[in-house]
Amino acid sequence: MARHLITSALPYINGIKHLGNMVGSMLPADVYARYLRQRGHEVLYICATDEHGTPAELAAKAAGLPVAEFCTRQHEAQMAVYDGFGIRFDHFGRTSSAQNVEITQHFARRLKENGFIEERTTRQVYSPADGRFLPDRYIVGTCPHCGYQAARGDQCENCTRVLDPTDLLDARSAVSGSTDLEVRETKHLFLLQSKLESEVAAFVEEHGKEWPTLASSIARKWLTEGLHDRAITRDLEWGVPVPADVWPDLAAEGKVFYVWFDAPIGYIGATKEWADAAGEGEERDWRSWWYEAEDVRYTEFMAKDNVPFHTVMFPATQLGTREPWKNVDYVKAFNWLTYYGGKFSTSQNRGIFADAALELLPADYWRYFLMANAPESDDSSFSWELFASVVNKDLADTLGNFVNRVLSFSRKRFGEQVPAGHAAGEAEQRLGEEIARLLAEYEEHLEALQFRKAAFALRALWSAGNSYLEEKAPWLEIKTDPEGAALTLRTAMNLIRLYAVVSEPFVPFSARTLRGVFDFEDTATWVTPEEARALDAVPAGTGFTVPPVLFAKLTEEDLDGYRQRFGDSGA
Ligand code: MF3
Ligand code: ZN
Repeated sequence: MARHLITSALPYINGIKHLGNMVGSMLPADVYARYLRQRGHEVLYICATDEHGTPAELAAKAAGLPVAEFCTRQHEAQMAVYDGFGIRFDHFGRTSSAQNVEITQHFARRLKENGFIEERTTRQVYSPADGRFLPDRYIVGTCPHCGYQAARGDQCENCTRVLDPTDLLDARSAVSGSTDLEVRETKHLFLLQSKLESEVAAFVEEHGKEWPTLASSIARKWLTEGLHDRAITRDLEWGVPVPADVWPDLAAEGKVFYVWFDAPIGYIGATKEWADAAGEGEERDWRSWWYEAEDVRYTEFMAKDNVPFHTVMFPATQLGTREPWKNVDYVKAFNWLTYYGGKFSTSQNRGIFADAALELLPADYWRYFLMANAPESDDSSFSWELFASVVNKDLADTLGNFVNRVLSFSRKRFGEQVPAGHAAGEAEQRLGEEIARLLAEYEEHLEALQFRKAAFALRALWSAGNSYLEEKAPWLEIKTDPEGAALTLRTAMNLIRLYAVVSEPFVPFSARTLRGVFDFEDTATWVTPEEARALDAVPAGTGFTVPPVLFAKLTEEDLDGYRQRFGDSGA
């Protein structure tokens, strides 16, 4: 059985992420990781904060903190929020860690030895008004390809093309707005991607076949435009230093690696952090996950703007070392989640940030909604109306109400133990077949990383319980055939236990509550087809308790409050 390495795009350090970020990286990665773990696979789910670069420096300055201190605080704050969302990383590291510095410098050394890094004198944008060289993303202007007016010097957000600052039309400083920009000479390291182009193309050709179209088409488009040599150093204080033994001049000038060079290497660095954090007597081998790791299947999660870096640039960096680093096997890419069709915007107070979301409602509400509406084949739009209807119908009515109805009614009629009643009959057999079929569908979609479809199948599993209950109507049965009612309730309780097991990837907190309903030692991590058909894992006589309402319905009044607080339609 393959070992599964899973990473989600490293969230940038400067602030808490919004729901769009969550649904495009951490959340689906967590659902997938939980599912695979439950199926008995060995899984390593790694993430980290992406800490280097100018935005961190500027944000620290604005917060009046030294940048290292700022990053430490932000790292903790982000970690707390992901924890609140139930994101279960094996390790949540930092690209500024000693481990990542070491591995990044190692990569640079190997690339240099193999002739893929070269020192070049460059002409760089200098802003006299700001008194500094401007990093690429602090130069804004009009994209020469699509005409987008707020394109940054490193990439156009609108058409996703990678840019050089000098490509921009009407370039200006994002710091001061000054258009008085001059070009000065300085030395930088260049990654000779052009020399690696055919190898990367072969890599994308081979692996891209299996990727979702969104990922493979962006990778191919990028390759069609040609792989250009790129500067991989910057004039900044906060970054991985250029190693002085190899490039004494540049090191003396205080050059550091460009954030996009050390960020993906951070996946490896964070894995080493994980290994270094091993407890007494615990064996953790980071290399076996990354180096000559033929038995590892590596899956990456990211939003579409990250695809070029992960499918082309990072593989080029890895291949250029001429060392057997693990390349990505599967790229799960996402489109955008919008807020009423518009962009999430911090400055305009539009959209929902992860910390605010958790203040409002428990994580499972968000997890289920976001995954059931994940922007997989297209952008998807968040609205409070849609959110409420999904929460109310799927979670409160279909799952929550089923659980409560069954347990409360049974307690009232038969006391606090699972009742015995008749042996399973024809209705139970039909139900078992249906559940086994839906479970297989659910598994198939999760294996294929089709999250919307998987959520749909999960909901169908919940619905099947409701249909069964309506069909059997134990509240009527009880009058004529109490043993029949007992059978219905016992079967329904077995469904609750099945839901507790299989719903965990999507709604882990509620799943835990449901597991706690029955007073028996349940060590199962998944349900086999035979068990799904039999629905008898929880035997008659098992003690149970009725949990508090699992999901509260959202009212019109709630919605008014949310719309007011978060803004709606961007108007
Ligand atoms: N921080 C980047 C972003 O927010 C993602 C970095 S992914 C990594 O877009 F792999 F490069 F780390
Ligand atoms: Zn553009």
